[in-house]
Amino acid sequence: MIDYQNVIDTIHSNLKDEVNRGLVASYIPELANIDVQNFGIHLRLINGETFATGDWNKKLSIQSISKVLTLAMALPMYPKNLWQRVDVEPSGNPFNHLSLLELENGIPRNPLINAGALVIADILVTLLENPKEDFLNYVRSVVDDPTIAFNEDVANSERMTGYNNYAAANLLKAYGNLRNDVDDVLDFYFHQCAIEMTCEQLSKAFFMFANHGSCCLQKRHLSESQAKRINAIMLTCGFYDEAGEFAFEVGLPGKSGVGGGIVALLPNHYTISVWSPGLNMQGNSLLGMRALEQFTSMTRLSIF
Ligand code: DON
Repeated sequence: MIDYQNVIDTIHSNLKDEVNRGLVASYIPELANIDVQNFGIHLRLINGETFATGDWNKKLSIQSISKVLTLAMALPMYPKNLWQRVDVEPSGNPFNHLSLLELENGIPRNPLINAGALVIADILVTLLENPKEDFLNYVRSVVDDPTIAFNEDVANSERMTGYNNYAAANLLKAYGNLRNDVDDVLDFYFHQCAIEMTCEQLSKAFFMFANHGSCCLQKRHLSESQAKRINAIMLTCGFYDEAGEFAFEVGLPGKSGVGGGIVALLPNHYTISVWSPGLNMQGNSLLGMRALEQFTSMTRLSIF
């Protein structure tokens, strides 16, 4: 029997005083103000038991973690055509890289790099009546928490400096892979990234991927096959040009965001969320990766 509370407390005390914590993302000015010392872990087992330590109950900007949730909402609504508009191959490139998009005629490598997430955003803008509100309500229902909200300051801050995403959206539009106006798609995308959640809420949000498609209320949101495929994409693409390293060190499907959050999961067993805002060179939480490496090594619970 594993003493999970002891495991996460040990990891927290191993890492909490680390001096080398990486750098807080500053290309979105509003995120540059976050205290790099924040550090929280939250674990939810498949039976509903939870364990938490550190700053697990503070709100963080989920950023790219939202890309998995937009994919989960879009896939059941657009099951066949989605994979004609975005591929499922790792990119081996940074999250905002544009060269492959041009080489591959506007079909993004996968839905978790920015260009791929913009195509998914475009699909939702087409299919939803009130895209931002409907997506937020989807997230609230999956987490069973009506308090989850956008941080408008973060969304505006990214809009002011989002030149790279404007470039990606314009390239997609030029290749005929965006149906809606560039500004409408970007407005949706900046808002999905600006959702705030605690580590506890993130562990709940990703429960459906560990639970064959059903959320923590046991309501089905994805088929088993869709949950399996999204987990495969997280494993191979969730950490961009560090996906291999994450699989090697941690061995779980997961997703990071430049707010410093990482959520990972072991199907049938647990979801785990870590928040430490300092990022490594690839834009993934530096302590978050180390914490998860320690977790799967100490518990011997990874997919490998
Ligand atoms: O589009 C961006 O650049 C940000 N809103 C999200 C990037 C991100 O979180 C990458 N993840 N590590």
